[in-house]
Amino acid sequence: MKDNIKDKVIVITGASSGMGEAAARHLAQKGARVVLAARRADRIKVIANDINGEGGEALAMVTDVTSLEDVKKLVDTTVAKWGRIDVLINNAGVMPLSSLDQAKVNEWDKMIDVNLRGVLHGIAAALPIMKAQKSGHIINTASVAGHLVFPTSAVYSATKFAVRALTEGLRNEASAWNIRATIISPGAVSTELLEHISDKDVQAANQEYVSKVGVPPETFARMVAFAINEPEDVGVNEIIFRPTAQEL
Ligand SMILES: NC(=O)c1ccc[n+]([C@@H]2O[C@H](COP(=O)([O-])OP(=O)(O)OC[C@H]3O[C@@H](n4cnc5c(N)ncnc54)[C@H](OP(=O)(O)O)[C@@H]3O)[C@@H](O)[C@H]2O)c1
Repeated sequence: MKDNIKDKVIVITGASSGMGEAAARHLAQKGARVVLAARRADRIKVIANDINGEGGEALAMVTDVTSLEDVKKLVDTTVAKWGRIDVLINNAGVMPLSSLDQAKVNEWDKMIDVNLRGVLHGIAAALPIMKAQKSGHIINTASVAGHLVFPTSAVYSATKFAVRALTEGLRNEASAWNIRATIISPGAVSTELLEHISDKDVQAANQEYVSKVGVPPETFARMVAFAINEPEDVGVNEIIFRPTAQEL
């Protein structure tokens, strides 16, 4: 089968740590040109320098996905530098889990803004360009929590259910323009995601669980590479992966 990753221009949000970082490094090793987007400038610059130092091609763009202007600039800068955008991985996300009765409305808003509005901003910025190219691929990171709801996950799950609905709608509408859409729903992966849970009991319980069963972020990178590498006439529409030991 023909290699379908090499030379592709791939933009990854949430690339400063965890799964986004792992995907950027892995895809660059496979010959893609990668654009790393996140708010922490120092982190994405170091990763991009590493990739470029190893003979890859990477660009770091400070981006807050809650800002449509930032995301448009990210996509436009990519196209100005490399002439096109082949893949957008809308991966930035936050997961401050808590029970609804605590009414942590600011954290609810944050999850809606990053996990849902951030993905919409990515689609708004990239879709017109991909439509004109008559090719493209949008990969959205959902979650196992986008398939089921557990205590403390109501709002997080709501955003991830929404990401799945949105991605299926995108697949449906954009198939006419030769654009592929993929949902990737990870289970427990060892990353920094739990660091921002403000309820310390919930945080400790999740950290204990993920430290026991969590798989490394490179797992996500392999899934992304698989979806991209399939031939252009094949859309890998959804992948769910979990640690083997994860029961839920
Ligand atoms: N780890 C898991 O078990 C798991 C399971 C299912 C789904 N997920 C999902 O996987 C995705 C990646 O998370 P991760 O586990 O790799 O956690 P992580 O290491 O905390 O990575 C989250 C990334 O999102 C970025 N981000 C957060 N807010 C942002 C904003 N406003 N604008 C731009 N970037 C922003 C962070 O970068 P900056 O802080 O530098 O901006 C960081 O690069 C998320 O969508 C998450 O919901 C994770």
